[in-house]
Amino acid sequence: MSMHNQKKVSRRRFGLIAAGASAMAAHGSGAKGASGQDAGPSEALPGIWQKRFGTPEQLTPVQTRTYPPAVQALHQLPPLQQCPVPLEQITGRMSKRGYEARLPLAPGEMIYGLGLQFQSVLQRGRKKTLRVNADPVGDAGDSHAPVPFYVSNLGYGVLIDTARYLTIYCGGKVKKDGPHPAPTGDAQTAARVAQLPKSFERYDMDQASEVLIEVPEAQGVDLYIFGGPTIREAVQRYNLFSGGGPLLPRWGLGFWYRVYGQARQEDVLSLADELRTNQIPCDVLGLEPGWQSHSYSCSFTWSDKFPDPDATLFKLKGKNFHVNLWEHAFTHPTAPFHKALFPYSGNYEVWGGLVPDFLGKEARTIFGDYHEKALIAHGVSGFKLDECDNSDFTRSWSFPELSRFPSGADGEQMHCFFGLRYQDTIQAAYQRRGLRTLGLVRSSHALAAPSPYVLYSDLYDHHEFIRGVVNAGFCGLLWCPEVRDAKDPEDLIRRLQTTIFSPLAMVNAWYIRNPPWKQVDREQNDAGHFAQGWAQLQATCKRLIETRMQFVPYLYSSFVRYHQEGIPPFRALVMDYPDDPQTWAVDDQYLMGENILVAPVVAGQPVRDVYLPRGTWFDFWTGKKMEGGRLVNMSVPLEQIPVFIKSGTLLPLAVPSLHTAQAESFQLNVRAYGPGTLECSLHEDDGSLNPEIDVLTLTWAEGQGEGSVRRSGSNGQIRYSVQKWERRFT
Ligand code: GAL
Repeated sequence: MSMHNQKKVSRRRFGLIAAGASAMAAHGSGAKGASGQDAGPSEALPGIWQKRFGTPEQLTPVQTRTYPPAVQALHQLPPLQQCPVPLEQITGRMSKRGYEARLPLAPGEMIYGLGLQFQSVLQRGRKKTLRVNADPVGDAGDSHAPVPFYVSNLGYGVLIDTARYLTIYCGGKVKKDGPHPAPTGDAQTAARVAQLPKSFERYDMDQASEVLIEVPEAQGVDLYIFGGPTIREAVQRYNLFSGGGPLLPRWGLGFWYRVYGQARQEDVLSLADELRTNQIPCDVLGLEPGWQSHSYSCSFTWSDKFPDPDATLFKLKGKNFHVNLWEHAFTHPTAPFHKALFPYSGNYEVWGGLVPDFLGKEARTIFGDYHEKALIAHGVSGFKLDECDNSDFTRSWSFPELSRFPSGADGEQMHCFFGLRYQDTIQAAYQRRGLRTLGLVRSSHALAAPSPYVLYSDLYDHHEFIRGVVNAGFCGLLWCPEVRDAKDPEDLIRRLQTTIFSPLAMVNAWYIRNPPWKQVDREQNDAGHFAQGWAQLQATCKRLIETRMQFVPYLYSSFVRYHQEGIPPFRALVMDYPDDPQTWAVDDQYLMGENILVAPVVAGQPVRDVYLPRGTWFDFWTGKKMEGGRLVNMSVPLEQIPVFIKSGTLLPLAVPSLHTAQAESFQLNVRAYGPGTLECSLHEDDGSLNPEIDVLTLTWAEGQGEGSVRRSGSNGQIRYSVQKWERRFT
């Protein structure tokens, strides 16, 4: 049975919306804990152990999960004999402050994850309080997506199943009376400690320690341990436990442009014309607040800036643009469903709008039905779900933690769930219409992998945006390092390069009237003063966007693997090279798919150090061959973001098109990097919700003039044809 068929079976077995507890029970979880006693540990699913302490709360990510685990795919991973963390060494106790759990931490062990952390990748030695917060002022755990999941370079992950603002100490705290369980003195540990780079000596990284977790309020907690054997499989297991990555619409991988917030329908149409006339590829146009008659809070109805929305959508569709609408969930009194939603909302308003109780079916149905009938049915391809996080630092605009919701959640729990269940509400509406979508969201949490949403932020530090790509991959998240205005043309180009090599390539011009390549400065741009020689900058940006279009087939397949196998399409180097200590702290480079390493550059850096892991690599732009296992100091020409292809790669590059529909069948230039017989797989399907996915295998043996193409399956969806085989790089 092929992987996607197996997946269908698993989905049918649990139903689309499965309660986590029942899915677990179906797999023999013995951890009940209802009596309040700590239950014995048990293997919940292959390679995943559950340990229950006390009586956990009912509103937790697993207990209220939307998607069932991808059980069949979990069975395909290497079987494990035992839990990688000795379960008897994981302890817990109730306190007046809530529930605490302790897990061992070995000398030289590194911790990663905890959601979309912008300020650090390596969590060992740090204390984090995982609060939902849009604009963290320090590295203290505040995040758009504070996911209570961490992974260790020793090859396991831990999910703390809670929707509370938990505090976690990743080592550094030592109990005076021990005894400490972590092994000391064995050869493996000694070797690991000996390898620690100098900078790692701080935080007692060379000593045994423990992870301390405090969950406020709760009288118990479930911990899930995800086995490896390496960090990569531990993350795969977590993603598959979540349900596997989403199947994206191909257009979602093209280029996105969000239009000035107060644009009128004629402005949008003329921008669409301008992009096509100038041959700048673009698949998605995003409309910002001005499309609504009331936007803070939201009316979800068109404003007088769009006197004929249907005609506008129709014209844009005719030019192959998908339209994405900005909104947030706070529902203004003029919204057509305000009255119906009233009883199913929280007891505090935000910006004069209702806060839907997305944990309850009623609010989800009312909100989702409206979106389906009033917007999706009219051709809206996706939404940007804004403001679903929270902030204590910008006038505390969201609902308070002491709020109450009809579902029984308080405000703290609702903040943890709000972004996730908002995504689910809209996703269900698209599913009812049999459509795939890809949207943007500003908050997420645990088990988010199956959700076709990419996180974004109002923050704008380029280093942090790059770190976001690295960190998101540990926790089942996708992150968009969007481009807005810029300090100077160099800054614009460098930022655009990062977004081109990220899950979602986007310019978000919501506060600039004109494309940033015409004028990078916000005030000048809004005043219509274009920079001298802007056409040249536009040409550079166009070439970059065309580069994105070249990678669409490769990226699409990387996402299919995320869906089927749980492998994050963008991930930290340590995930593929866990035994190489030089990768452990890398926070400014990442892997894209199986074979590509990306090392973005921030404006002002004429040279940068790039760490190339072991093996041979080729510079994507020049073809230059480089030996890995070392730090390379390289000059970085402005137009070339450092990108390296692993030797042994057959890379299918598409001939750039203006949009993905134009390339109904992509023409491929296939490049061979390295000697021998090389192979790669591409995936073809009809873009529906539960497609038959055919695999196209390209093979090229050294010495042959041309490679060969083999198709498995017969769904009749021909998406690719090879135009050229190039063996330039050996
Ligand atoms: C912000 C959002 C921006 C933009 C703006 C419009 O909350 O992060 O991307 O959409 O709202 O008001």
